[in-house]
Amino acid sequence: MNDSRAIGIFDSGLGGLTVYEALRKTLPHEDFIYLGDTARLPYGSKSRETVVRYAKQNAQRLIREDIKLLVVACNTASAQALPDLQKQLPHLPCLGVIEPGAKAAAKASATGQIVVLATEGTVRSGAYPTAIQRIKPTAQVHALACNLLVGLVEEGWCEGPEAEAVVQRYLRHLQNVQKVTFDTLVLGCTHFPLLANTIRKGLPPGVAIVDSASSVALDVRDYLKEKELTNAPERQGNNRFFVTDAPKRFQRLASRFLPDVTGLEAILADLTAPC
Ligand code: DGL
Repeated sequence: MNDSRAIGIFDSGLGGLTVYEALRKTLPHEDFIYLGDTARLPYGSKSRETVVRYAKQNAQRLIREDIKLLVVACNTASAQALPDLQKQLPHLPCLGVIEPGAKAAAKASATGQIVVLATEGTVRSGAYPTAIQRIKPTAQVHALACNLLVGLVEEGWCEGPEAEAVVQRYLRHLQNVQKVTFDTLVLGCTHFPLLANTIRKGLPPGVAIVDSASSVALDVRDYLKEKELTNAPERQGNNRFFVTDAPKRFQRLASRFLPDVTGLEAILADLTAPC
């Protein structure tokens, strides 16, 4: 049994392309429809109520494309809105990035001392500590809001002295001021995988870096297989991109997240149009 419908993905903007990229590589025969809510980002500093409202509107827009599964690529939206989406859409499987990231972190950590770098909203939600401790009850999870890191990535400053200085400052605060020791660090934001090399330089040797993008791709693969929702394995997947503002800017900046992709075309999506 195959299901040729697409997989819908949404994020607050560009960052979710790291999740899209992991999905595309893991599931090359699947079709993907990506929606970046570029008109309303960032989500990381917004209230839970607002993020839930945006997430529901994004999901409704993707449902109009007849998707078979929804991936909430945005950590902030996964942390704050996934249960609301699952309640509102009982017939559409909705997967977020927190559980897969938490699973990977719990597996990687020998000591149970885990740090999560994320947005303010994700940290405020407590979603990562809750998810990790559900799997590993003895884990001690310290989540740190790193708002400036999102801006660095959007600016394309993922490596070099400026990026290193900002990353060092967050990590120093953790290690020297808050005296947190850890053996695993979770990149709990769509943008942070692009900073992995720079973050690695600021960490003591032996600390594992966990990225929820690759973990969610494996979970989606397993889910599709289990529910017999996979696309025909001999075909090549098709990808479409929608944004809620500035498609040209999205097209230009997308190459930072997708170095191998050329000629990406983004279509303006109207979230207020009647279903
Ligand atoms: N996509 C968001 C996340 O993963 C980061 C950007 C934003 O704040 O909107 O949390």
